[in-house]
Amino acid sequence: MRGSLLVDNIGELVTNDGRGGDPLGVRRDAAVLVEDGQVAWVGPARYAPAADRRIDADGAAVLPGFVDSHAHLVFAGDRAAEFAARMAGEPYTGGGIRTTVGATRAASDDELRATVGRLRAEMRRQGTTTVEIKSGYGLTVAEEARSLRIAAEFTEDTTFLGAHVVPAEYADHPDDYVGLVCGPMLAAAAPYARWIDVFCERGAFDVDHARAILACGQAAGLGVRLHANQLGPGPGVQLGVELGAASVDHCTHLSDADVDALAGSTTVEWLSGPPTSTVATLLPGAEFSTRSPYPDARRLLDAGVTVALATDCNPGSSYTSSMPFCVALAVREMRMTPAEAVWAATAGGAAALRRTDVGRLTPGSRADLVVLDAPTHLHLAYRPGVPLIRQVLHNGVPR
Ligand code: NIG
Ligand code: FE
Repeated sequence: MRGSLLVDNIGELVTNDGRGGDPLGVRRDAAVLVEDGQVAWVGPARYAPAADRRIDADGAAVLPGFVDSHAHLVFAGDRAAEFAARMAGEPYTGGGIRTTVGATRAASDDELRATVGRLRAEMRRQGTTTVEIKSGYGLTVAEEARSLRIAAEFTEDTTFLGAHVVPAEYADHPDDYVGLVCGPMLAAAAPYARWIDVFCERGAFDVDHARAILACGQAAGLGVRLHANQLGPGPGVQLGVELGAASVDHCTHLSDADVDALAGSTTVEWLSGPPTSTVATLLPGAEFSTRSPYPDARRLLDAGVTVALATDCNPGSSYTSSMPFCVALAVREMRMTPAEAVWAATAGGAAALRRTDVGRLTPGSRADLVVLDAPTHLHLAYRPGVPLIRQVLHNGVPR
């Protein structure tokens, strides 16, 4: 949409500019000018420049759009029965991934595309304007390439997760599967992927396999992220730090050495320069939906680790597309303050994707913003389960 747009009469504007030592950079009685899909000006409403069009926020809170930095949206079928069994006491092992692999392989391109589109729309209605999308339910050369090709129709942040689990046909010779992932599968996936990911966990890929696969991905120009320390303690988090991963995700079972490694990697100055830290991305929807203990966000934050929140949206461990739900869980169950949780769901997600164009509302950033049906960001945790997203602007366009 051409021409300028003024979002005016904002009661509380979260900019994430860190001004005055406030990470959220909150401004009262503010306005935001949008031009060519970008934020052109931010300031007091009374000094707002003229614009072609105007949105009256009517005293409400305005936030950067949520950045959901971890989602598995390319799949078919669902696993509602598996969820019901868990709620009746069954543990989550990740074994159900193979069920989804079967359904995904049997689906047409259009069916997969429709599912990604439906979930992407669901996310946007809940305030998400940037999403990372992983492959990982294909697990053959052609299927992983297909998943990523479809994911790339929806986002720039596509992640090759050929190493999600060892598929049944390689169960007796997993080394050969690792060879396939590092060789032909990576070659077919790389043109459509920005990132590489491995599920480094007992029952999935051990640390040697994970290191080998991630190193191949790096050599092919992909950035590193990984699923680590979700189901139990393990070497994944420290492997991620060693490899300079943008993010290690889950972080549910951490030793002091894991926390120290993450804290040692942290560069708090990421907003003003190229970020170099490894972010800890917490996925409380997974603990909710697997009835597992939540990660201790407070311990990470107190150690100085950069924390992000994401949905982990997938048909097995976390079938939610809602960042507001994750914010509420993080505050109630993980000892984050509402401000920390909102930062983690916006700027934190951007840091986990090493992006400086989203997750904040400052001149030059993408005009991705959310108008809440609430006077402050506190209401996201204070009013859990309530649809508080009044309006979403993506690239400056009302959606
Ligand atoms: O992040 N842990 C590995 N992958 C997903 C779960 C995938 C599934 O259960 O289908 C996760 O929780
Ligand atoms: Fe995941």
